[in-house]
Amino acid sequence: MRYLVTGGSGFIGSHVVEALLARQDQVLVLDDLSTGSSANLAHLDGRPGLEIAHGSVCDQVLVDELCLRVDRIIHLAAAVGVRRILERQVNSIVTNLHGTEVVLRAAHAHGRMPVFYASTSEVYGKQDQVPFREDLDSVLGASALHRWSYACSKLMDEFLALAYHRERKLPVIVARFFNVTGPRQSPHYGMVLPRFCEAAIAGRPLEVHGDGQQARCFLHVSDAVTAITSLIDSPQAIGQVVNIGSSEEVTITGLAEQVITAAGSRSTLAYVPYEQAFPQGGFEDMRRRIPDVTKLQRLTGWSQQHDLASTITESIRWCRDQKTPAADRAR
Ligand SMILES: NC(=O)c1ccc[n+]([C@@H]2O[C@H](COP(=O)([O-])OP(=O)(O)OC[C@H]3O[C@@H](n4cnc5c(N)ncnc54)[C@H](O)[C@@H]3O)[C@@H](O)[C@H]2O)c1
Repeated sequence: MRYLVTGGSGFIGSHVVEALLARQDQVLVLDDLSTGSSANLAHLDGRPGLEIAHGSVCDQVLVDELCLRVDRIIHLAAAVGVRRILERQVNSIVTNLHGTEVVLRAAHAHGRMPVFYASTSEVYGKQDQVPFREDLDSVLGASALHRWSYACSKLMDEFLALAYHRERKLPVIVARFFNVTGPRQSPHYGMVLPRFCEAAIAGRPLEVHGDGQQARCFLHVSDAVTAITSLIDSPQAIGQVVNIGSSEEVTITGLAEQVITAAGSRSTLAYVPYEQAFPQGGFEDMRRRIPDVTKLQRLTGWSQQHDLASTITESIRWCRDQKTPAADRAR
């Protein structure tokens, strides 16, 4: 099978590419390297079946050309990360709305090829009926708070993907990721675990936003990849919206403490009010975000293989490796 993976040089994308090549699929990556990195795929350089195109998902001509050469699309390219969304407001919305529109239009035009779309748990917004089931209402905040533009743009993408499915028979799968983490996740765009790992290794205080009692579920990226490949191989997942996440809940303070212990670090915790962490404003946080993954399990037989402790240990190891010169790593 030949795949187009948009955002394939990113964190989740690079792991997806690896998994597809391992099962002998051919992969064409499209990435503009805005938050991704060519280093994420460097170890696959020269691998038969892999080709990388540098460019934007907003470029309809380019996406059309690439679609002529594949059978399926995994659409991961998006503007991500709270910090980036707040700093590059117009660009983020345009990437998420227009990029997805371009991909869906091309997929439809080139033989109605299946599209996997990466949405987010953010679309549940301020919903408080945990665990979140796919048919719950989205409870979003005011448009004056720019942070909601991410959830809103992803939700509009979901609507568009589902409309293409219902009205134009495009086979789409919409997946909502809940805090996927692990090796290769960059600390530079506000993602909490890599940020904590980096600080703990350097002996710096771990910056916890708010009171630290907000809780999340962190899923190891390889469990997310298994969910993606299982869904795209499941005809019964077509036209469905499916949560992908871990069932193990932890507060952000609890996460910080576990990172410090696992890293053998002397770092302390530094509580930073949201207004200080995001001086440009427009931020509002959710207390709990827990996925109901019954649907994913029912459709694919998926089960989580990695617990939080091993995910933290691997993330710390990866972060340490990045600080070690390549020559020393090879010894
Ligand atoms: N990691 C998570 O916890 C999480 C949670 C919810 C949703 N998601 C979704 O999963 C997808 C992958 O996220 P990730 O965590 O791997 O982040 P990432 O930033 O590592 O991946 C996004 C990739 O898209 C690329 N990209 C951005 N704009 C582009 C454009 N216009 N054209 C081409 N490429 C472009 C980036 O360079 C990057 O490689 C995103 O759609 C994101 O919204 C991730």
